[in-house]
Amino acid sequence: MEASVAHLYARLKALRPQPSQPRTDAVPLVQCVDAGSPYCPCYLADLGECLECSVLRGETTCRCRWPGVCVLAHHGWQRGHGTRRQSVRVPVVSRKAYGTLELIRVQVAPQLAAALGQPGSFVFVRGGATPFFDAPVAVVQADPQAATVLLAYAVLGPKTKQLAQCGETVWLRAPYWNGLVGHRALAATRGASCLVVAGGTAQSLAPHVARALLRQGNAVTVVLGRPGPLFSRSFFPEGSAALSLVEMRFPQDAAAFGRLLRRLSPRLVFCAGGERLRGMALAQVATLAEPPRLAWSIDHRMCCGEGVCGACLSNVQGQPVRRCKVVQDA
Ligand code: FES
Repeated sequence: MEASVAHLYARLKALRPQPSQPRTDAVPLVQCVDAGSPYCPCYLADLGECLECSVLRGETTCRCRWPGVCVLAHHGWQRGHGTRRQSVRVPVVSRKAYGTLELIRVQVAPQLAAALGQPGSFVFVRGGATPFFDAPVAVVQADPQAATVLLAYAVLGPKTKQLAQCGETVWLRAPYWNGLVGHRALAATRGASCLVVAGGTAQSLAPHVARALLRQGNAVTVVLGRPGPLFSRSFFPEGSAALSLVEMRFPQDAAAFGRLLRRLSPRLVFCAGGERLRGMALAQVATLAEPPRLAWSIDHRMCCGEGVCGACLSNVQGQPVRRCKVVQDA
């Protein structure tokens, strides 16, 4: 048995991309949002840049954090890669305008709708065939039975203008899941009090986060912040005694938000909003005696979502981080 495992390992090592020299620079271990999914191994693994597998990166020993699968083994068995996300043309079911915002419901495969029901889910969508018009847009609601997903976007530039003007079909590439920071905090919070504060276009992420927290036995208070339309309101679960919805207007109600926060003393605070809303929420969180776990929606640029283009690259403690792929804590 041992001999066959050694033989398999030797074969897998032979199949991996061969750098010209063994790498000696030990890249810090990170968690990849796609590891173990049908989309793993990805383009990065093919190029010897896998975020999880040190052997695929050209190191001589395995230092992985065990994401539930051996990416090296999958790389060998699948002859290089998992499923590639492709742009597909899908019909538009309905559109609804909210000032400069638009809600667009599109028909997708039921499996894709199911995959887009997780916190942080988003898609790349465009109004025409030209690939560089792809814009990342968060999923407000995913319905596997009706095989539809609901997207919300603000018309801000050429990509979203094209999306607003396109006809009966759009081009969609999905699923992607790293639309938020703090996946681990969300997953670890069970049977506790949680507070979600949401406003602007980023409130799209709040319904899925609230659903996930409710499934984990938490009591969830959602604060929907004006100004701006509260389009997400009707997509929170109905009839749940553990969910309460509150409307506020910021910055006028910042003090009232602080009082609510201190009364609830939540174990987790999730903020789905822009920099201003997050800054206000974090300032109030700082007044709590017991700091809660934090999570928030991301607001950096994304272009490919596959860790390739570098649009989302940022420097975290001296290390380059591809934010579309790396699971980060807040
Ligand atoms: S969006 Fe292209 S590398 Fe992250």
